[in-house]
Amino acid sequence: MTSLPRAYFDDVYRENPDPWGFRTRSYEARKRELTMAMLPDPAYRSVFEPGCSIGVLSAMLAKRSERLLAMDISAQALKIAAAGLPSHVELRQGTPMSSLSWCCSPRSATTWQRTTAGAWPS
Ligand SMILES: C[S@@+](CC[C@H](N)C(=O)[O-])C[C@H]1O[C@@H](n2cnc3c(N)ncnc32)[C@H](O)[C@@H]1O
Repeated sequence: MTSLPRAYFDDVYRENPDPWGFRTRSYEARKRELTMAMLPDPAYRSVFEPGCSIGVLSAMLAKRSERLLAMDISAQALKIAAAGLPSHVELRQGTPMSSLSWCCSPRSATTWQRTTAGAWPS
């Protein structure tokens, strides 16, 4: 499987800091609400969010997690995300494969398989 390169997404975010309209479109807001509603537990010890973009969903996940690793291929997107997130959120530039050791550590492997959402109950 091929994927678009980091430079492509950096350019997209340089041209428009909210290219998908996460902050403006009601469709995106509704999608986030549904995503949050699907998480079965009220709070989580560790959450992994691949493709976090400018951190709009990350801000909601942060409220229900002790630790959130939010990752995106675009450093430009992460710069925007950094402005609005609390200190227990770690922003990391990379791809899901580059973060596998974090999300599949022995402590979390079992629940990773159980939830598939990348969130581990407290
Ligand atoms: C549509 S946005 C995701 C938005 C976010 N998940 C949400 O719903 O609020 C897609 C994001 O994935 C990132 N992305 C694309 N390919 C990626 C890859 N291989 N690894 C990590 N992030 C990637 C892009 O930079 C972009 O920010």
